Amino acid sequence: MTERLISPQMSEEEQIIEGSLRPRHLAEYIGQEKIKGNLSILLEAARQRNEAVDHVLLYGPPGLGKTTLCNIIAAEMGVNLRTTSGPAIEHAGDLAAILTSLQPGEVLFIDEIHRLARAVEERLYSAMEDFALDVMIGKGPSARSLRLSLPPFTVVGATTRVGSMTAPLRDRFGAIYRMEYYDKEALNKILHRSARILKVPVEEDGIEEIGGRARGTPRIVNRLLKRVRDYAQVRADGVITREVARAALEAMEIDELGLDQTDRNMLLTIIQKFNGGPVGLDTLAASTSEDAYTIEDVYEPYLLQLGFIARTPRGRVALQAAYQHLEVTPPGGGNGPGLWTTLP
Ligand code: ADE
Repeated sequence: MTERLISPQMSEEEQIIEGSLRPRHLAEYIGQEKIKGNLSILLEAARQRNEAVDHVLLYGPPGLGKTTLCNIIAAEMGVNLRTTSGPAIEHAGDLAAILTSLQPGEVLFIDEIHRLARAVEERLYSAMEDFALDVMIGKGPSARSLRLSLPPFTVVGATTRVGSMTAPLRDRFGAIYRMEYYDKEALNKILHRSARILKVPVEEDGIEEIGGRARGTPRIVNRLLKRVRDYAQVRADGVITREVARAALEAMEIDELGLDQTDRNMLLTIIQKFNGGPVGLDTLAASTSEDAYTIEDVYEPYLLQLGFIARTPRGRVALQAAYQHLEVTPPGGGNGPGLWTTLP
């Protein structure tokens, strides 16, 4: 697959550059005002009591800053951060190895926490609740269980699909924060900050143009900024003006709303191949050669937010706004059967 500008994964090079753009303290973090407010109280209270921070669950679409916030939690508390992910902890023994090596107050970041294996997840319950780890010694009839005590620590879990988490796991988080798409103002502030760090000359209009096409997502805004910077350097005099930004984004086939070829292909597939829907997720995935999980986690949330598609019990449907944006007529030409789907 070609590298996509809106793809949720980061290359190694990108992680290094991203690292330099990432805010390290809460005061530098732009947007997510509600979360920042609640988090600063959570951290301050733990600091005053000299305790580990309560477990924090961050959920929401990719690229909104869950990892960044986790780094900030550890930095603000002055403790080490250990990073892992749900699929990386394959066995209960892997979890035991991680937990028994934690120092008091440390933060354990578990990305994609909804993908933990059941046996691992069940071990995590008592570790989070009582800072105790039950390990089995021996096998067969002589096996016994031994309870090890752990130092107090903080789990920060991140997930794009909180609905796939079990209730017992969710309930073990003292603070649950939903990350939201960033508004234009916040994205523009992030752009100004990143342009300053990268030493790219930008005009306000150029910032506006990039911010408007970044799907409310900091990771995408920073990615677009870097590509527009390349374009400005090679095709213009290095300054990111509105014209330069527009030309660069058009060359990348990113439209005014930040949709790329894959988004448009998905919408057109629903509209033209499936008469506007409803079409099931797996059918849509097969027809567009995209992965069903990627559709659900990456593309859909933004299209839902735009009101371009809706999820119904029978599958995905394209809504009027999508037809208008793509300038296509609804099945039946807007008359008679096959009118655009309207939701109850
Ligand atoms: N870079 C990426 N996300 C950011 C954020 N939320 N605030 C500041 N800089 C960022």
